[in-house]
Amino acid sequence: MSYKLEILNVTKTFNSEEGEIKALEDVNLSVNCCEFLCILGPSGCGKTTLLRLIAGLDYPSSGEIILDGKEVKDPSPDRGMVFQEFSLFPWRTVIKNVTFGLEIQGIDEEEQYRVANEYIELVGLKDFKNCYPYELSGGMKQRVAIARALATEPAILLMDEPFGSVDAQTRNVLQEELLQIWKRTEKTILFVTHSVDEAVYLADRVAVMSARPGRIIECMRINIARPRKRTSVEANVIREKLLTLLSSESLRIG
Ligand SMILES: Nc1ncnc2c1ncn2[C@@H]1O[C@H](COP(=O)(O)OP(=O)(O)OP(=O)(O)O)[C@@H](O)[C@H]1O
Ligand SMILES: [Mg+2]
Repeated sequence: MSYKLEILNVTKTFNSEEGEIKALEDVNLSVNCCEFLCILGPSGCGKTTLLRLIAGLDYPSSGEIILDGKEVKDPSPDRGMVFQEFSLFPWRTVIKNVTFGLEIQGIDEEEQYRVANEYIELVGLKDFKNCYPYELSGGMKQRVAIARALATEPAILLMDEPFGSVDAQTRNVLQEELLQIWKRTEKTILFVTHSVDEAVYLADRVAVMSARPGRIIECMRINIARPRKRTSVEANVIREKLLTLLSSESLRIG
């Protein structure tokens, strides 16, 4: 699948009790097939809003989102989302969480289970497939959310701070696993994070957003060969640049 994603002059304004809130202003970004792109930006700058627009869960106020030459208007199985908060269905077992999207698509039950088992195995949860979410650790829950997003075989995986609420060690392991999944499945990944370290470890390119209203202020290529060493000199140089950009933006909303 050679899906190219283009975000063209996208602006998003919300109407709230406080009046109009401009969340995104004139966002332009082009993401190539099989690219791993991290979006980094201060809290409230519109990262989740942007992912929701790409997922087709909301509409831009102006501008366009084009995927594979067609304007995005609705959610579709070609875009899988891993949400910022744990979003598993607590009343469903691991395997039933993973089959959810396939059920909606009307795929027959035997095939649902075949696909779900494959992705549960991919994220290393074979022995937990009949457990309920409350029986899992935070990291395991996020693995289920990833398996669920992958099960419908989307071309693009939209990930909204998926590892934000797990401890540092688990986070490193999940990053490692995600890179392996990315290599094996050849997905395009858009990964939102607050963490400069995470972005430098994972991304082919990092798009840095300004404080609200969010714009892309810089798109930085990370030319470090994989497997990357978290503490390398070259990683530190890029980290320093990104931190400087971010700290000026964070001060702007402070
Ligand atoms: N449905 C909505 N109605 C009104 N305002 C909204 C809505 N969704 C988001 N906003 C506003 O848009 C802005 C951007 O929110 P968004 O959740 O996209 O930020 P974010 O970059 O994901 O922040 P964080 O890093 O804290 O998750 C915020 O000011 C928020 O209050
Ligand atoms: Mg968010």
